Amino acid sequence: MSTSTAARPEEPAEQVLDVRDLSVTFRTESGTVSAVDHVDLSLARGEIVGVVGESGCGKSVTAMSLGGLLPGSARVTGSARLHGTELVGASEPVLRKVRGRELAYIFQEPMSSLNPVLSVGRQIAEVLQVHEGLSRKQARARAVELLALVGIPSPATRVDTYPHQLSGGMRQRVMIAMAVACGPQVLVADEPTTALDVTVQAGILEVLRDLRDRLGTSILIITHDLGVIADIADRVVVMYAGRVVERAPVHELFARPRHQYTAGLLAASPTPGRHAGTDRLQEIPGLVPVLSTQPDACTFADRCHAADDLCRGSAPPLEPQGGGGTSAAGHVAACWHPSTETRTLAATNQEPAR
Ligand SMILES: Nc1ncnc2c1ncn2[C@@H]1O[C@H](COP(=O)(O)OP(=O)(O)OP(=O)(O)O)[C@@H](O)[C@H]1O
Ligand code: SF4
Ligand SMILES: [Mg+2]
Repeated sequence: MSTSTAARPEEPAEQVLDVRDLSVTFRTESGTVSAVDHVDLSLARGEIVGVVGESGCGKSVTAMSLGGLLPGSARVTGSARLHGTELVGASEPVLRKVRGRELAYIFQEPMSSLNPVLSVGRQIAEVLQVHEGLSRKQARARAVELLALVGIPSPATRVDTYPHQLSGGMRQRVMIAMAVACGPQVLVADEPTTALDVTVQAGILEVLRDLRDRLGTSILIITHDLGVIADIADRVVVMYAGRVVERAPVHELFARPRHQYTAGLLAASPTPGRHAGTDRLQEIPGLVPVLSTQPDACTFADRCHAADDLCRGSAPPLEPQGGGGTSAAGHVAACWHPSTETRTLAATNQEPAR
């Protein structure tokens, strides 16, 4: 388990990102579809929060909505405050300023974000010249420092290489260097290691952890991989069909999953020990519902062995679970009949709660 630099129990952690009641709908040819439904999440300074859930559950749409990166067909409501700046409904000039400087993204496939005809150093330097007003020479020197920061060997030489001359893992490191060039408070990493092989993934997670430790960057990491969550996250948000169904400190979630969906995910997980890249979410039988068809029910009811009339008749609220309290750092789940299972942490990478 990672150790947060900021979230000591005796010091209330400084909230950097506070997302409340965030909903996203899309206008489509077949009508309005709901992708994200009243999501709450927060990120403290230096905290790494993992967002996990099946394909299509709204992870990326949630993340993209923060930076105003969704297409015009999207309607975003609710609130997302980044150090007091409201992002929902903010104008494009405000969002452009926020992106890069305060909120940066890295995605699964760095090649699609890198310019193939510019050296990696030039691309990092351009970010610094545009956002920080550095001279060309200063920006190049800083680019070398940033390549060193993300663990690229011989940075003074590599600064002049082109993206196609680097391995996938090295390209992802370059993307991270670009993302953190202007010292953003929040880094959103959407499946940053999914396209990489297992040993390379571990190196990328190490870079992210190191950035948090050295710069105090808060990281929202989106993944399908419970191993990535176990490896790096302080807290976990589990999403299902556009909603947050459970939120907990990472050791608590692995030891005492409460929502039946989370319990199912962990039970279906094949490996006893968890390491990044080895533990992608397993299939749970049944189909994820279209959110708008089930407004007054638990969205997991059709796939849940514990579902009853209560579950089919009303949506469960997110409620504190045993001892976690109601704070953002606590354990909450939206389930009428929470799992009572307790898992042995010795079988995972997780340490017991201190
Ligand atoms: N531009 C769009 N127009 C209409 N619907 C969209 C659009 N973008 C996303 N959606 C829908 O929003 C829902 C959430 O998508 P999202 O990309 O956030 O899922 P995800 O959890 O990131 O999945 P994955 O793990 O596959 O990346 C999906 O049902 C998707 O089809
Ligand atoms: S509310 Fe009911 S249907 Fe939904 S996960 Fe809990 S037990 Fe299952
Ligand atoms: Mg996604």
